Amino acid sequence: MALKDIIPSKPYVMFGGKGGLGKTTFSAATAFYLAQQGHRVLVFSVDPQASLSDIFQRDIFGKGPVEIIPNLYAQEIDADSHIKAYQQEIRQKILDMYGFDQVPPEIEDYIQAASAEPAMEESAIFDAVVDVVVRGDYDYYIYDLVHL
Ligand SMILES: Nc1ncnc2c1ncn2[C@@H]1O[C@H](COP(=O)(O)OP(=O)(O)OP(=O)(O)O)[C@@H](O)[C@H]1O
Ligand SMILES: [Mg+2]
Repeated sequence: MALKDIIPSKPYVMFGGKGGLGKTTFSAATAFYLAQQGHRVLVFSVDPQASLSDIFQRDIFGKGPVEIIPNLYAQEIDADSHIKAYQQEIRQKILDMYGFDQVPPEIEDYIQAASAEPAMEESAIFDAVVDVVVRGDYDYYIYDLVHL
């Protein structure tokens, strides 16, 4: 089977599966193929291991969509920075709501504990991915999923 045979009619393509299976390789190859066909393509991941940076030999981590070749953009979402921004949003809401000068230590402890929950990371990743998919104007979105 050739790569072109697995390209669906939908603009969203996801590569998932166990570690080392070829997700990043296939994501990059599919994105490259589609870009060469003249489509505007974004390939992205939330993998902190920055493997799209490796495969394209460019440091793209946390930098937004970076143009690799004409029509081909790659993005590595920095999930940690999204979690930190989310924590800051919560702190600001508490300060505004209660008129505190600083966040009380017991609330800060709670914010830290809540951020350690896997659900917080998933939620931050989900928000970031929704932002990417909703905002962009690409013909195809190729999602290189993380195997946790
Ligand atoms: N079709 C293939 N045939 C042979 N080797 C391959 C193939 N696809 C990928 N590889 C090799 O397998 C290794 C893992 O590939 P890749 O990094 O794409 O996997 P991955 O699923 O993204 O891994 P991870 O879960 O660590 O992100 C690499 O060394 C890659 O060159
Ligand atoms: Mg990978």
